[in-house]
Amino acid sequence: MSFWWLNGFLLLWIVSVTSRKGDFEVRFESIETIKGRTETLFIYKLRLLGRDRLINGSVEFQVDLDETFEVSLESQAYKNGFWVPGFINVKIRPCEFFKTYYVKYFLVLPTESNLPMTGSEMCPFRKGDYFLKNGQVSTKDWPPIVFQGLNKYRITFLRNGNITGGVQFIIRIIEKETEQ
Ligand SMILES: *[C@@H]1O[C@H](CO)[C@@H](O)[C@H](O)[C@H]1NC(C)=O
Ligand SMILES: *[C@@H]1O[C@H](CO)[C@@H](O)[C@H](O)[C@H]1NC(C)=O
Repeated sequence: MSFWWLNGFLLLWIVSVTSRKGDFEVRFESIETIKGRTETLFIYKLRLLGRDRLINGSVEFQVDLDETFEVSLESQAYKNGFWVPGFINVKIRPCEFFKTYYVKYFLVLPTESNLPMTGSEMCPFRKGDYFLKNGQVSTKDWPPIVFQGLNKYRITFLRNGNITGGVQFIIRIIEKETEQ
């Protein structure tokens, strides 16, 4: 399953670098917590602050997020007034998710935090109360994996197929004007 995702990812990257010259900008539009079906073990209390939409708040992991869980990552793009399935739609184990995906493309860099910052520190992601202040996601290594416009990412943590919490965010990709 992860190979399928990787293929889609590489394909998009190739398409993007060959067809786009412009730089792009990523803006967070919203970020919200996803509750569990019967219990919520991973609680995100995050807000976007100010014009720069800095990610701020706390995250509570009531148990270790270890390999007994699965992470589901789904993307959607907003097209012609509807959310349609995006290229990324995978279910993988947490270590793989944090090491190969989160740390590479979505690592939140706060000015102050007690969150783990490296892949090995996130494997397993230990139970705890975490906080972060004024976080930004570095997009400098991003291939434009997503469509221009609005994109939604939904990350849920599953145990035996049941959602036990997660987070969803919407970002807007804006291509910067390039002068000829
Ligand atoms: C930002 O997050 C920190 C840490 O969780 C919190 O103490 C602070 O009140 C938050 N600031 C705002 C404006 O929400
Ligand atoms: C998953 O949810 C269903 C429906 O609420 C429940 O019957 C089942 O016991 C849950 N499984 C686990 C492992 O908690």
